[in-house]
Amino acid sequence: MKKSDVIKTLLNHRYVYTENTSGSAFAPANIALCKYWGKRDIELNLPVTSSLSVSLGEQGAHTTVSLINASEDKIRINEEDITLDTQIAKRLIEFLDLFRSNTEMHFAIDTKINIPMSAGLASSACSFAALIQALDQLFSWQLDRINLSILARLGSGSACRSLWDGFVKWHAGKEEDGMDSFAELLPYEWPHLCVGLLVISDQPKPISSREAMQKTVNTSCYYKSWPEKVKTDLAVLQEAIASRDFDLFGSVAESNALAMHASMLTANPPILYWLPETVAMMHQIWKKRAEGLPIYFTQDAGPNLKLLFLKTDIEQVKKTFPEIKIIMPFEKH
Ligand code: PMV
Repeated sequence: MKKSDVIKTLLNHRYVYTENTSGSAFAPANIALCKYWGKRDIELNLPVTSSLSVSLGEQGAHTTVSLINASEDKIRINEEDITLDTQIAKRLIEFLDLFRSNTEMHFAIDTKINIPMSAGLASSACSFAALIQALDQLFSWQLDRINLSILARLGSGSACRSLWDGFVKWHAGKEEDGMDSFAELLPYEWPHLCVGLLVISDQPKPISSREAMQKTVNTSCYYKSWPEKVKTDLAVLQEAIASRDFDLFGSVAESNALAMHASMLTANPPILYWLPETVAMMHQIWKKRAEGLPIYFTQDAGPNLKLLFLKTDIEQVKKTFPEIKIIMPFEKH
């Protein structure tokens, strides 16, 4: 099954004509609390397990996509023209290829992202989620969000969770064509929940998450136990969210992230995103927790940590980590 087959099923030639010249959308970044780590289908980005995330409010990508009279696509990110042979441009162009009705059709993408790129802060997720919604507007597909999440997944797996604010669950699904592998909003809010970004490095990561994921699936002896771990963590996490049990919530999220990194460490060759500063921060978090501050972390494919804590502890957290950027995912904006 190819990506273009999924497009045919979902769009059924709806993308051929448009009277619009552009479409615009915003999508928030999302941080997984129970991670997506491993694909059952590499072409369609179908995951081995379900996953659960929280979106980051106003932190994300604003994208405008336009049809242009030119011989190639144009990509602009944060006011800078991107050369078309860079990794990010290639991924975006490959994604746009799925929606061209002829080879003469070219697009200009103009994106403004307000989080560091390629540093494990989910910049690709919000980019593809904003782009698919901008395309939906440009071509007047009028697809619902569930179907848009299926299309966003074809660009980057975790992008399917960036279609909503709040807690979002991505169902792994079982079907070969991935039509049952979509994300959806969970009906819970947690107004006092805070996510703190500790940016240790905003340099591009040495190995992409898609490559690291595949190497782990193929070579780590610990990967076998990952699906079982996710099954338990997902159930407990949802319970913790529903009952607003913060310690349970934080401890499951932290343990899930550490288990993902443990599976990478046992890949061959080993993958370690941690920098000395990452480890130092972990020790600091554990020390503060032992002293009574309810603070936990999660970490994705990069050296940066995302802290989880409650509004009541903001001042103490700021004192310990003065450089932290605090986001309140459920604060209305
Ligand atoms: O969607 P990708 O290919 O960028 O992979 C994301 C992987 C993690 O960020 C590490 C986990 C997740 O669920 O977001």
